This record gives sequence, structure tokens and C-alpha cells, in this order.
Amino acid sequence: MKVNKDTGILEISKFGEEVLKVKAADLTVIDERIARMVELMRQTMYLANGVGLAAPQIGESLQLAVVDITQGEDPEAFTVLINPQIDESFGSEPGTEGCLSIPGFSMEVNRSTEIRVTAIDLDGNELEYDLEGFEARVFQHEIDHLNGYLIIDRVSPLKRQMIKREIKRMERTGKW
Ligand code: NI
Repeated sequence: MKVNKDTGILEISKFGEEVLKVKAADLTVIDERIARMVELMRQTMYLANGVGLAAPQIGESLQLAVVDITQGEDPEAFTVLINPQIDESFGSEPGTEGCLSIPGFSMEVNRSTEIRVTAIDLDGNELEYDLEGFEARVFQHEIDHLNGYLIIDRVSPLKRQMIKREIKRMERTGKW
């Protein structure tokens, strides 16, 4: 992870960076470094107006993500996911999603409507989450990051081509 000297928050990896394309490694030790990383991820997510942030997005290929669909409004809503697994999933529905690693773009993505997730929290407890709707969508988005998938991998080939072309254009002009 890299802290931006101007903003004091973490630099977010963007589409095109290798770390976003690979399956992240299981987290085996939850130590002081991980606790600090989680705190910086929490602050970065809130300042970026995100509802979730995965470790690969801050350049760390680890099975770790933070989620808060209330964006800090409900202090109890903040969730740390370590080595999360989707154990069960039901249904499918489209919905619009953005991603801090693909700034400026939003796209329609199909997600399961109901999921059961198990994950370890910062204290090392294994917890089970039964989720539906938007919250289920956000968890699936973050778990996708931990497996090397982005929303751009979940849209039609035609749409993907269009977005990639647009990003290439932005890269050429130094806007990416
Ligand atoms: Ni994302």
C-alpha cells in the first residue's frame, strides 16, 4: 500500500494494473500491520465515497476487503472481510455498479439476489452473513476483486470493448 502524501489516504490501483487481475492470497496472520491497513482502507473508502474496498485495490494481493453500505452513517455497518467465501447463492438480477478502480464508468452487472458468505473478522472470529439486494451485490463485487475480477469482466464483450477503448484514449492523454 502507498499513502498519498497530499491526501493522507491510500493510492487506489486502476484498471490495467496486474494486482487487480490475480487471485489474492489467503490471509494467514492478522497482525498490527493488517489492523493498520484496515484502518487506512476504511478512511480511504469513506473519503472516496465508496461502499467497499478490496486489498488488491490498494496494491495488496490479500484476501481482505472492507464494506459499509451506509458510508459511515451507521457505525455498526462497517464490516471487515478476511478470506471470504460465498457458500450459497440464489437468483440473479441486473443493477448498476461503479468501481473505485474504474473511475468515471458505471455498468450494468448481474448478481445473485441472495447469498450466504462466511468470512473471518479482524478479531479472528469466523462469521456468517445472510445477505440480499444491494448489500449482497456489494459483497459480491468485493469478493470478485479478491478473485481477480472487475465489473468490466461481467459485461458483454461489446460493452467491454467500448469501455477499454475509452480507457486507452484516456491513457494516451494522461487522464488515466
Ligand atoms: Ni470495485
